Amino acid sequence: MTVTFLLNGETVEVDAPPTRTLLEWLREDEDLCGTKEGCNEGDCGACTVMVTDDQGARALNACILFLPQLHGKAVRTVEGLSGPKGELHPVQKAMISHHGSQCGFCTPGFVMSMAVAHRNGATDHDDQLAGNLCRCTGYAPIIRAAQATQEQDVPEWVEDQPIDVAPQAFAPHTEDELAAWYEAHPEGTLIAGATDVGLLVTKQFRDLGEVAFLNKCAELKQITRSETEFTFGAGVTMTDVLEAVREDYPSYAEMIRRYGSVQVRNAATIGGNIANGSPIGDNPPALIALGATLKLRKGKARREMPIEDFFIDYGKQNRTLGEFVTGARVPLGQDALRCYKLSKRFDQDISAVCGCFNVRVEAGSVAEARIAFGGMAGIPKRASAVEAALVSKPWDRDTVEAAVSCFKDDFTPLTDMRASAAYRLEAAENMLRRYFAESSGASVNVLEVSP
Ligand SMILES: Cc1cc2nc3c(=O)[nH]c(=O)nc-3n(C[C@H](O)[C@H](O)[C@H](O)COP(=O)(O)OP(=O)(O)OC[C@H]3O[C@@H](n4cnc5c(N)ncnc54)[C@H](O)[C@@H]3O)c2cc1C
Ligand code: FES
Ligand code: FES
Repeated sequence: MTVTFLLNGETVEVDAPPTRTLLEWLREDEDLCGTKEGCNEGDCGACTVMVTDDQGARALNACILFLPQLHGKAVRTVEGLSGPKGELHPVQKAMISHHGSQCGFCTPGFVMSMAVAHRNGATDHDDQLAGNLCRCTGYAPIIRAAQATQEQDVPEWVEDQPIDVAPQAFAPHTEDELAAWYEAHPEGTLIAGATDVGLLVTKQFRDLGEVAFLNKCAELKQITRSETEFTFGAGVTMTDVLEAVREDYPSYAEMIRRYGSVQVRNAATIGGNIANGSPIGDNPPALIALGATLKLRKGKARREMPIEDFFIDYGKQNRTLGEFVTGARVPLGQDALRCYKLSKRFDQDISAVCGCFNVRVEAGSVAEARIAFGGMAGIPKRASAVEAALVSKPWDRDTVEAAVSCFKDDFTPLTDMRASAAYRLEAAENMLRRYFAESSGASVNVLEVSP
């Protein structure tokens, strides 16, 4: 397939297999080896590039970015960061003057993340750089370099804009086109952000067969809000979900802040995170606790279901061949929602256990409880026995302790490299205690609690 985009200000037309990654192409075909390969799975940020589309500039990991995802966009690599006369970009100058680099392997990725943050006026540097790993320099000089550039102007040469290109069959522009393509190719692979699918290619060397890219489908990228609910299109990125829920559901937003990294959140979609059926995806427990409704479509037929009904068993979802997720409806006004993500590393780590709680208390008694977990079973799952032990009881410590003993009826967790079964069970029990403590006004966030 032919893909057209801007590379460091020049239009390029590339004929490539649909799953050729930008990183491979840059290094092997273009001899642009400044963009580094560290992990080749989205974890280290050494391959970070700036990608501009009609929504603005984003940092993305080139190692799990397929060339067709770039059609009509503008890509800037570290080779294009300095000006036409060789002038250094402010972040490059600051990295030198603040001693932000030693071996330098990570440095191209860091400066690209910093240049995107600088262009967007983002000053939450710890978050912006959480997806870039450095083993030698340490983060303090790098953060100082980022801070030093805050007030400086954005050089005009990085202000790329997307370009006009002809629509391509591999990227349906409407939901109708996508539905027709998927009905005709039910065994084909849908590619949204490619943060899962990319790894099938780079780590498992899988041939994905026929593919359709969802990133041009405008309907799937919409977020709407009524008096009672949000509707998220399946193609909404985690970056945009975070912004949308920040005010209504700060605890959900705080969990998303720890979802992958800026680069991963800029690519990953809420639809992909649900459709992949992962037992450790972070959105499903939150959406189940909120009572969200999943929207599906096959051809012209549409259906909806409570999101928990989508997850049947490990690797098995309530979705037929040729059917795809179009979005999710998420109720507003669920003020009791709290999300607790437990992972070995604070940033950029998959959950060992993710517990989401939404317990509505009226006149001191539990009127309704929706509690859901990731990492505790083969699917994201409600804690039905725990919920039953809470409902219609006084919301007090005795009720909570009685309910805690029901976790073992709801879950038989696995032992794996993230946590043992016993640890997971105890962590889940303690999350309910934590939720009760938080509802009683205690500080329970690890960032708030001091020794
Ligand atoms: C470095 C890294 C860190 C990560 N950290 C986290 C984390 O902290 N928390 C977390 O939950 N996940 C994490 N993930 C996993 C991943 O980001 C998510 O599962 C992501 O949401 C997948 O979405 P995507 O748009 O990238 O999906 P894709 O990779 O494009 O697709 C995933 C699967 O869903 C299918 N699919 C996509 N969209 C649809 C649709 N609309 N209808 C039907 N099927 C569809 C695809 O065919 C594919 O099978 C991480 C991944 C990486 C690489
Ligand atoms: S090479 Fe590590 S994130 Fe791409
Ligand atoms: S300077 Fe060596 S990894 Fe960062």
